[in-house]
Amino acid sequence: MAPLPISSIRVGNIEDVQELIKSKPNKVPERFIREANERGVLVSHKTHLHHHIPVVDLSKLSKPHTHDDFLFEILKLSQACEDWGFFQVINHGIEVGVVKDIEKVAKEFFEMPLEEKKKYPMEPGTVQGYGQAFIFSEDQKLDWCNMFALGVHPPFIRNPNLWPSKPARFSENLEGYSKEIRTLCKRLLKYIAISLDLKEERFEEMFGEAVQAVRMNYYPPCSRPDLVLGLSPHSDGSALTVLQQSKNSCVGLQILKDNTWVPVLPLPNALIINIGDTIEVLTNGKYKSVEHRAVTNRERDRLTIVTFYAPNYEVKIEPMGELVDHETNPCKYRSYNHGDYSYHYVSNKLQGKKSLDFAKILN
Ligand code: OGA
Ligand code: NI
Repeated sequence: MAPLPISSIRVGNIEDVQELIKSKPNKVPERFIREANERGVLVSHKTHLHHHIPVVDLSKLSKPHTHDDFLFEILKLSQACEDWGFFQVINHGIEVGVVKDIEKVAKEFFEMPLEEKKKYPMEPGTVQGYGQAFIFSEDQKLDWCNMFALGVHPPFIRNPNLWPSKPARFSENLEGYSKEIRTLCKRLLKYIAISLDLKEERFEEMFGEAVQAVRMNYYPPCSRPDLVLGLSPHSDGSALTVLQQSKNSCVGLQILKDNTWVPVLPLPNALIINIGDTIEVLTNGKYKSVEHRAVTNRERDRLTIVTFYAPNYEVKIEPMGELVDHETNPCKYRSYNHGDYSYHYVSNKLQGKKSLDFAKILN
């Protein structure tokens, strides 16, 4: 999340979805109803059986029994990043308690009365606070979702006025959780570097003091999940994203693979990792930042806690020399400053992978 744009944008009335369903409307309001080609059609059961995003066992990388085990898992990781842009990690080393604690305060936060949550408003055109991000006009469709987003690290991206005093342990739990997720991201980047035949500190050295932000997405049940979207299709502007789904979460996240929306089936205690636009650029498109979205459920709500991990704003991003070959693999992206990309990303609506046009060299 970049420095926040100053704005006088007119976004119309953004209804709070939790409040909206309390009034039990007999119809979904027009502003949430998507065009027929964008709707959250549910994927057939058959597809469920045939598509699973890859699962990477982190303990096989940090404590492999044999070197072959290590290489096998690295291969799995590299295939996941190349073919899917998504994977689930198991045995990631983050204690169940830490995961539970953040889920608890996030849930409690969304359950508070609107008056309380409104003390931390996401102003139009900004991306931190409680509300709905990425809305830039009065006629833009809304997502069936309430969001609460915060910059976490480095300290200068924090807006302390938006860190809530209630629930009591919110800030403390978020600090603890974010620290663990930061360590996980560093470990993952190390293995990703190895999988690309780079030296293991390659990303860490390049990223400087990495930027870390969190977004909690709460998707209330929707009487017509076929008409709305929980979260519009997009790719993430980060380097890596770590997504935690609430315990016993129903299916909600879908990723676009071979032109089909593939649901991600939650695995107990796993975290979902995806490659963001920044790694796509750095790897000259070898590892892909894949378009994804969230759909809603008729009966059940769903909560996700999403961490975006990215280079420092000062860092110059361009395809790494090791992964460019002028003859066989020419450079596909121009060089830019990460802060500029971040700003570009947050000042445009979510629209598939459109943000990345910023960096593409078009022939
Ligand atoms: C995101 C995201 C998906 C979800 O916040 O960037 O893709 O299931 N969330 O909440
Ligand atoms: Ni996302």
